Amino acid sequence: MTARVLKKDGALVASIGARCRRLEWAVKDSVAQLNWSRSRLIATCVTTVVVLGSLVSLTLSYVMFLDLASESPYVMDAITETPLTKRIAAHAQNETLGFGGIAYLSMPYRFDRQDAMELLASVYGLNFTYIPGVDGTAIVEKAKPLHSYWLRPPELGCWRAHVNAWRYLLESDFETLLVLEDDVDFDVHVHDIFETLSKQMQHNRIRITPPTEHEKRAAPYGLDWDVLFVGQCSDHSNDDRLDLVHLYEDPHAPSRQDTFFHFIGQMESLGIKDGNFGKMRAIAPSWNPVCTMGYAITRGGAERLILDISYRGITGPVDIDVIRKLQQGIIRGYTVTPPLLSAWRVDGAKDSDNQALEKDQTKLGAGNLNGYSTSLKMSARKEMVKILELHNWNDVQRVLPLKPNPTMTAAQEAEEQDEQRKAEAEKKEIEEAWRKRKLEMGQIMEKWGG
Ligand SMILES: *[C@@H]1O[C@H](CO)[C@@H](O)[C@H](O)[C@H]1NC(C)=O
Ligand SMILES: *[C@@H]1O[C@H](CO)[C@@H](O)[C@H](O)[C@H]1NC(C)=O
Repeated sequence: MTARVLKKDGALVASIGARCRRLEWAVKDSVAQLNWSRSRLIATCVTTVVVLGSLVSLTLSYVMFLDLASESPYVMDAITETPLTKRIAAHAQNETLGFGGIAYLSMPYRFDRQDAMELLASVYGLNFTYIPGVDGTAIVEKAKPLHSYWLRPPELGCWRAHVNAWRYLLESDFETLLVLEDDVDFDVHVHDIFETLSKQMQHNRIRITPPTEHEKRAAPYGLDWDVLFVGQCSDHSNDDRLDLVHLYEDPHAPSRQDTFFHFIGQMESLGIKDGNFGKMRAIAPSWNPVCTMGYAITRGGAERLILDISYRGITGPVDIDVIRKLQQGIIRGYTVTPPLLSAWRVDGAKDSDNQALEKDQTKLGAGNLNGYSTSLKMSARKEMVKILELHNWNDVQRVLPLKPNPTMTAAQEAEEQDEQRKAEAEKKEIEEAWRKRKLEMGQIMEKWGG
């Protein structure tokens, strides 16, 4: 394929070269025939260049004017907030972000990642239910779905763990479940971000029917979808249905600089212009969402997914299979861009339990602290380290006055007092930083009584 293109390119270059040479000869011939003086020739050339240049720049500015005039076919989707929509959206402030539950998948031996997840849950007022990841080699032949023979064991295990999460929803009395993988990160304002999304989800362009009375009262994100992608690595839109893209404002959207490059192109294609980066997100029908790091499902979605990606057999790794079903139109998905959840990357693919050999003991843990995430304004994993920071020897007010130390000399005492003054100053500084952070974290921190 590549070789053929190259060969074609070579032939094209040669033919362009030949044409240029012929043109050069023709020009030389005509100039000779004209028999003009050198200065007349130069003057004519300069005039021609100036006239052509003005024509080109005029055309360019006209095209730019047209582009600006047409700006974007999309308009911000104004939604009407009613006391009812506000009340139901406020459920996003609860421990399961307004979903019936939040489950996370983690291989049983990844204690490091489980610790991190439980820590995040505790610090940010969330309740995560642990669902053990599955070792693909432990699935017996008879239990494997149809057409699964070509999946690598980690892919098979990954598929199984997600089906177990879907099954967990069916076995519960939840209507929705948010499914996370154990390397997820999110913004510290996660509750507010989901509250904003909830208001949009109740009324959006993608919906086919207006929300039912039950949805209005009990379903912060509506129930008209099977899968809601809020943590994809990338997606691209169904170009035939750009009319369904729903744009909304979110003060916690990441700036352009913080946004992973995949999403920048995606956002532009969805109609978010440069000036609106850091202010807006888009909800679009899911078309090609890659990764399964964070998505919600409804009960109907869990039923369809288990039917299509287990009961009937499978046709590829679980995320690819979901994409196939979305494009076939047999499940309905929404994707939020830029996503609300991101992956915390530690040590690249080596740290993955999917790419690397399972339980590879030769890899040393890189440590939770050495990671990073993208497309978040304020990473919850980074901030939690600061939130839990303590300076016991500096900033604790002792209840009773300290006893004087009888063996201390005057010089030592002076030094001690000096130390104390420094400690006081440092304490003030820390308190000031903490106060600022609390201001930044706004309402949520206040809710936690910080
Ligand atoms: C959070 O809100 C949702 C939606 O109302 C509800 O289904 C869920 O049970 C709530 N979670 C908790 C922990 O209260
Ligand atoms: C978290 O949710 C589970 C399942 O709904 C529940 O049993 C548990 O009590 C909750 N934990 C907290 C701390 O609320």
